[in-house]
Amino acid sequence: MTERNFGDVIVKPSPIHGLGVFAARGFRAGEVIFDTSELRVITGEDPLREGEEERHCDWLADGRQILLPNPARYINHSCNPSAWKEYRNVVRRCATAFRDIRAGEEITHDYRIDGFGDVVWECNCRSARCRKIVHSDFFQLPLELQIEYLPYLSELYKRVFREKLGRLGQQMAAAQATRRPTIAIFRSSIARTSS
Ligand SMILES: C[S@@+](CC[C@H](N)C(=O)[O-])C[C@H]1O[C@@H](n2cnc3c(N)ncnc32)[C@H](O)[C@@H]1O
Ligand SMILES: [Zn+2]
Repeated sequence: MTERNFGDVIVKPSPIHGLGVFAARGFRAGEVIFDTSELRVITGEDPLREGEEERHCDWLADGRQILLPNPARYINHSCNPSAWKEYRNVVRRCATAFRDIRAGEEITHDYRIDGFGDVVWECNCRSARCRKIVHSDFFQLPLELQIEYLPYLSELYKRVFREKLGRLGQQMAAAQATRRPTIAIFRSSIARTSS
C-alpha cells in the first residue's frame, strides 16, 4: 500500500516510520480528526490473525490488548504530537487535534500519554522536543511534561495509576508551590477519576 484515502486523512509513507496518517484537510485545535469505534480486544480465544501485526495494537492500562483498525493503526509517535487519543468510553477512541493542523501535516500521538511498562525505543520523530531514546512509561517523562499531559490521560489510566498520580501531585506541590494554576489543573484531572 503506497497511499490510501480515508476521507479526511490519508495513509501514506512517513519520514518518521513506515506508513503514517496525514491530514487531507486542515483541522482546528480540539477537533475530532476521526473516530475509532471498532477496536478488537485480543485474547487467548481471539488472538491476532494472519496479516495482523502486534505493532498495530495498543495496551490499555488494565492490561487488555486491542487491535487498532485503519487508519488509527498507522499513527506514528512524536515527542511533539499533533493529536491525542481521546476515549469516549473505555475502548472507543478518537484522534483529536492538540493544535491547528494544516492539510498535508502528519497526524501524530505521543505514545507516552497513557503509557506504562518498560519498553524503550529509538525515536525518529525529528521534532525539536525529541528525546531520541524514549521510554514507554508516562511517569518516566520529565515532570513538566507529565504536568502538560495530565489533562489528556484517559479515565481508565487515571483509575489504574491513581496512587502514582497522587505521588505526582505531591511532587508538584513541593516543586511548584507558587504555580497555583498548574496545581489546579492536576486537581481537576484527578477529581474526575473519583466519580
Ligand atoms: C502503530 S504503528 C505506526 C504505524 C507504522 N509506521 C507502520 O507503518 O505500521 C507503531 C510502530 O511504528 C513505529 N514508530 C512509530 N513512531 C515511531 C517513531 N517516532 N520513531 C520510530 N519508530 C516509530 C514503531 O515500530 C512502532 O512500533
Ligand atoms: Zn521523538
